Amino acid sequence: MSFNILISDPLSEDGIQPLREAENVHVVMETNLSPEELEERISEFDALLVRSSTQVTRSVISKGKNLKIIGRAGVGVDNIDLDAATEHGVIVVNAPNGNTNSAAEHTMAMLMSLSRNIPQAYLSLKNHQWDRKKYVGVELRDKTLGIVGLGRIGTEVATRAKGQRMNVVAYDPFFTEEKAEKMGIGYGTLEEVIQQADFITVHTPLLKETRHMINGKAFEMMKDGVYIINCARGGIIDEDALYDAIVSNKVAGAALDVFEEEPFMDHKLLELPEVVATPHLGASTLEAQEIVAVDVSEDVLRYLNGDTVRNP
Ligand code: NAD
Ligand code: MLT
Repeated sequence: MSFNILISDPLSEDGIQPLREAENVHVVMETNLSPEELEERISEFDALLVRSSTQVTRSVISKGKNLKIIGRAGVGVDNIDLDAATEHGVIVVNAPNGNTNSAAEHTMAMLMSLSRNIPQAYLSLKNHQWDRKKYVGVELRDKTLGIVGLGRIGTEVATRAKGQRMNVVAYDPFFTEEKAEKMGIGYGTLEEVIQQADFITVHTPLLKETRHMINGKAFEMMKDGVYIINCARGGIIDEDALYDAIVSNKVAGAALDVFEEEPFMDHKLLELPEVVATPHLGASTLEAQEIVAVDVSEDVLRYLNGDTVRNP
């Protein structure tokens, strides 16, 4: 039996070698399809591989008459309508481990960019300004990092922050105080964590329960001059509330890798000098992209060939 596979977001060419080498598979890479074009073409394919850009909607899935499996080369599956997939008997697999390290490293890079105004100072110097007074930063040592969501990435961030001699306190409803103690970090409710923290970083999935969990009410509870980092998902932090909290000086700065709507060209948060931002680059390393593409390609091949998958 032979299978047609559509790859609709850019994936590492080295990572998809298992698919290219499989004899019973024909790979089509079309990374600029409009939503309408995707809906028109999807019935030709047995499998669809995506990163985070392609929106795999109910409409796409229902038109995928031959679709058997959707592979997500990364962690978050919030761009895929999981209910529709289940209803249509289409399995969804992801690659949950391959980009953990890269996302944690990016979070630390954002944390340090924020604390030392590196992007702002760089821009200023590029504009021929030598301004040492304006870009005085704050040390991380002895500051408290609040981590919301202590899964794979949150845990890696905790370890690295301890290396920076920060105090770490975390909230995750599926973690325990005992485990936190073993890691040498504090544990509390969401309120306790955000009240104590000098820096707050979120590492939860985007779910109904986590959408806007950092909202106007949460900002009110925080220390004055708190710093916010989001390298998880746009939508966990209420962007309007964040904007207001920065303008009112409640929040001293924010580092954002992800946004409620992506991609975008204009965003009011980017107008603020206190905001440093990257265009969803948390997993964008050669290493992570190769691993997630290999993981998801192997699972897709296994499934199409009648084997069980590793990451359903
Ligand atoms: P994970 O599943 O290992 O960890 C998520 C943690 O969030 C879990 O421990 C879970 O218990 C916790 N959680 C769930 N609901 C919660 C709630 N209401 N309050 C607090 N904690 C809650 O996932 P991960 O691999 O650590 O990834 C975390 C997030 O980072 C995901 O949204 C993922 O998509 C995102 N991510 C972004 C990038 C990027 O490029 N910026 C890269 C990788 C992952
Ligand atoms: C993920 O959920 O894995 C990230 O958003 C990274 C990505 O999509 O590349």
